[in-house]
Amino acid sequence: MEAMTFVLFGATGDLAKRKIYPALYNMYLDGKLPKSFTVIGLGRKEIPDAVFQGNVGQSLKEFSRRPAAEGPALDEFLSAFRYHPLNVNHPEDYAKLLKLVQSRETELGIPDNRLFYLSVAPEFFEVIASHIKESGLGSTRGWKRLIIEKPFGHDLATARELNAKLSEAFEEDEIFRIDHYLGKTMVQNLETLVLANPVIQAVWNNRHIANVQITASETVGVEERAGYYDQSGAIRDMFQNHMLQVLMMTALRLPSRITAKEIRAEKRKIIEALRPIAKPEVARHVVRGQYAAGTLNGKPVPGYADEPGIPAGSRNDTFVAARLWIDNPEWQGVPFYIRTGKRMSQKSTRIVVEFKNPTAGLYSSRGEETEPNLLVIEINPNERVSFRFNGKNPRNEGKIEAIEMDFSTEQSELPEAYERLISDALQGDSTFFAHWKEVELAWQWVQPVLDAFADNSVPLHSYAAGSNGPEASDKLLGEDGFRWWLDP
Ligand code: BG6
Repeated sequence: MEAMTFVLFGATGDLAKRKIYPALYNMYLDGKLPKSFTVIGLGRKEIPDAVFQGNVGQSLKEFSRRPAAEGPALDEFLSAFRYHPLNVNHPEDYAKLLKLVQSRETELGIPDNRLFYLSVAPEFFEVIASHIKESGLGSTRGWKRLIIEKPFGHDLATARELNAKLSEAFEEDEIFRIDHYLGKTMVQNLETLVLANPVIQAVWNNRHIANVQITASETVGVEERAGYYDQSGAIRDMFQNHMLQVLMMTALRLPSRITAKEIRAEKRKIIEALRPIAKPEVARHVVRGQYAAGTLNGKPVPGYADEPGIPAGSRNDTFVAARLWIDNPEWQGVPFYIRTGKRMSQKSTRIVVEFKNPTAGLYSSRGEETEPNLLVIEINPNERVSFRFNGKNPRNEGKIEAIEMDFSTEQSELPEAYERLISDALQGDSTFFAHWKEVELAWQWVQPVLDAFADNSVPLHSYAAGSNGPEASDKLLGEDGFRWWLDP
């Protein structure tokens, strides 16, 4: 692994504390960081290095999946951290930063491999990227890489503008766009599950699959993010990125070789084949919802419009369900249903693949019925793959019942999404990052939905907090003769 400098913008922020430092620490324990590395944390405040290192240590105690015990290993890890105050708009701060980076490189014998992680609000992406270029920080003989997090734009036009700006300072293969769903064990496993198993591969098409259901339900509400969330809604916050990424990973076709390039090329073919919906059609295929007051885990919770910081009468979406079609030979005619919402009855991220059931009616003479086979891929909070098939239950007079076969993993031992993703970025492996084209095409699909939501040509259904979303989402599947499997 090549020695490198990890330059972290937003080093005093929440994401750094909760995710990035714990990820780096666990990577360090697993030998996934190079022998020589330095982390340079940047923020507006003036903080001495020793205090910064203490803060990083504290965040490890609170958030690391493995305990950060005092001792030489922790000390050595923390000794790699330096802090530098920086105002993102001041060129002279970048000039000083360059000096610090160079002096650390010389001190530690690190070639100028630099990773810039922008853990800051998206409005700062452009200015930071351009200063990295102008200051010379980005002129390296080694490699340079940029990690950014969503939101990548607010709509198609702003996403394109942002990308144009970033492209002035970084090449596409130097930009690592994190979609943390792509770092989840089961999302990463999808590729293997489908591509490396000939039995599954053989039935992964419209001859055998009746429909695919992708759900990401959450019990949390808007939390302390009213300002951001009320401008985004479920459609921008979850659907445009996480949900469409999971759809691409699910529908992926077998590439000729398993490389980042080929996998991303196959993903792109899927998103390119997604049938566009024109604005007047949106209401037929997309359900928009907002949670009302209700009960969750036995406690009353307020409706969205009564949450602190949400303007009265907000018509923001906290729930979206949609029917999508992939117009390619494999998936033609198979509806993909997506639903995601806040304040639903349970936290669950999962994919359910419903197979066609040509045996329906076969046992009717015996008054029995077969159920369609289901492949259920649970992503969160459990990581589990199960297959439901029909069998005789000897304890119930040999009657046909759905039987489940399952494979689960013990979650606590597994690396977190951020560990995997940062580790991949350090190695230049972009398989599980969002390519610009995927992002752009996802916005392109979503744009008419944004427009239809904005001018209210799609009804806003209310659903009680703690429920499974608006009834209209059940009707969406009902129209096609299906239902959501498993609540929610
Ligand atoms: C984030 C969204 O990207 O994903 C949040 O901004 C959401 O609103 C979160 O709660 C869900 O992630 P996970 O990993 O808990 O499913």
